[in-house]
Parts: sequence; C-alpha cells; structure tokens
Amino acid sequence: MPADMAPAPRHRSTRPLVITIDGPAGAGKSTAAKLLAKQLGLMYLDTGATYRALAYAALRRRIDLADRRRLARLGRALPIRLKPLESGAVRVLLNGEEVTRPIRTERVTEAAAILAQYPSVRQAMVRLQRRLAAASLAAGGTPSPARDVPARSQAGVVAEGRDTGSVVFPHARYKFFLTASTSIRATRRQEELRGVEGRAPSVARIARKLRQRDRLDRTRRTGPLIKPAGCIVLDTSHLGIEDVVERLRRYLPHGPNSDCVGPENSIC
Ligand code: C5P
Repeated sequence: MPADMAPAPRHRSTRPLVITIDGPAGAGKSTAAKLLAKQLGLMYLDTGATYRALAYAALRRRIDLADRRRLARLGRALPIRLKPLESGAVRVLLNGEEVTRPIRTERVTEAAAILAQYPSVRQAMVRLQRRLAAASLAAGGTPSPARDVPARSQAGVVAEGRDTGSVVFPHARYKFFLTASTSIRATRRQEELRGVEGRAPSVARIARKLRQRDRLDRTRRTGPLIKPAGCIVLDTSHLGIEDVVERLRRYLPHGPNSDCVGPENSIC
C-alpha cells in the first residue's frame, strides 16, 4: 500500500492530563479530588493548601494580614512541599515542618480567605501551584496507582480549588464544578473541624461563615470563584463520595465537549 494511503497512526496524547475541580468550601472537592487522583494514579494538587500554608506562615511571623506586600513576598518564597500518601491524601510540609493539620484550623481558614483576596498574593500562589504540578509531573507523578486502574499512559494532575479551571490551568482537558447546599456544606465542615480541633461551632455559625467566605471568593476581582467555561456542574448534596467520583469518571474516557450533558448534570 502506498505510504500516503496507509491509515493514519493513532496518536496518543502525550500532554499531561489535567483535571480541575472547583467549587465553594464544603462542596466535597478535596475528598473527590483525592479519590479520583488515587484511582487514576495522578497527582492530587490541593491549591487551598497553598493559601492555608501561606496564612499559617504569616500568622506565625505575626505579619499584618493587611500587609499585601509582605504577604506576597512571603508567598513568592514559600518553602512548601506536598508529599503524596498511599491513601491519596497529601502531607503538607512548610520548611520541612509537618503542618497538614494545623493549616485546617478556623483561624488559619479565615486568614487564608483574607489573603486570597490580594492579586499579588494570588499571582504568587498560582505560580507556586503550577510549579508544584510541573515538579510532580517531571518526577513521574504519583507512584502506585490503584490496582483496578490500567497502567498509566500519561502523567497528569487533579487540581482542586476555586480558580483551577479558570486561571491556574485554563487549558485543562476536564473541568468540574461541585456545589452543595449551604447546610450540607456546613455540616461537612463541622465534621472536619471536629477532627482537627476536637470541637466545632454550631452548624448555623459555620453556615454564616461559609456564606461570608463564599461572598469573598465570588466577588474578588482576581481569580474569583466562578464556573469555568466548559465545566461540568455536579451537585453533591445528596451523594456519597464514591457516587461523586463515579459520576465524575463517567465523563473521563471520552471527555466533555459542548454537546456532552449528563443526565443530572449540566455544562455551564
Ligand atoms: O479549599 P480551602 O478551603 O482549603 O481553601 C482555603 C481558602 O483559600 C479559601 O477560603 C479560599 O479563599 C482560598 N482559595 C482560593 N483559591 C483557590 C483555593 C483556595 O482563593 N484556588
């Protein structure tokens, strides 16, 4: 057969697979992202952890949370490492010190939401997040994918946060946006706080704070919480984690495009 009539070789994409999961606090993003990354043998990138680690470092140094310049400078040199664990979770190390739990307290959560408003801080964090992803991909991504998953043919990352599909990885192949009702999100957050601090405020109080944080996240001028173009929206209010991940995976083999609308989900 003449060469020009031979069937075109099937090209396998060598571009890293990037999946983004955005949404408000308590929508179930981190649990879903962790499990999805573990199942697919990809890196899990918790972008919220970078804002939290910066907030933690700033509080430790007693930096005024209104001092944008100092915060941005600290952000540009933040000595953070994300170490993947077998469970799919990550350990957060700051200057070699384990801060995985301390960055989840209410105080740090509130401080992170404040400094995440500053464009210069966001710029530093976005650069850092891309660097963390690139370093992990260069190192071969997360080792030991789950047993039920075929060997990985390409490296990739599951990034989770507020602006991962719109700003950090605007060219991501798959973009998801998770939502849930405020009361469910507050209940989930209460459980998380109990685990971290041993106690937690009432659901009503947490819900009030969540609404405040949502407003800050949605209305800031740089990197606001939005549904990125082309994303798939999933309401997780009445879904267990396994169901959430199972639904996300339905979109992955062929990928979403503008004609692809799931039964209960919508393309935004
Ligand atoms: O997701 P998590 O609750 O850990 O994020 C902590 C804070 O960091 C959020 O309240 C939000 O203000 C900020 N954040 C952000 N952009 C991201 C991830 C988190 O502004 N991509």
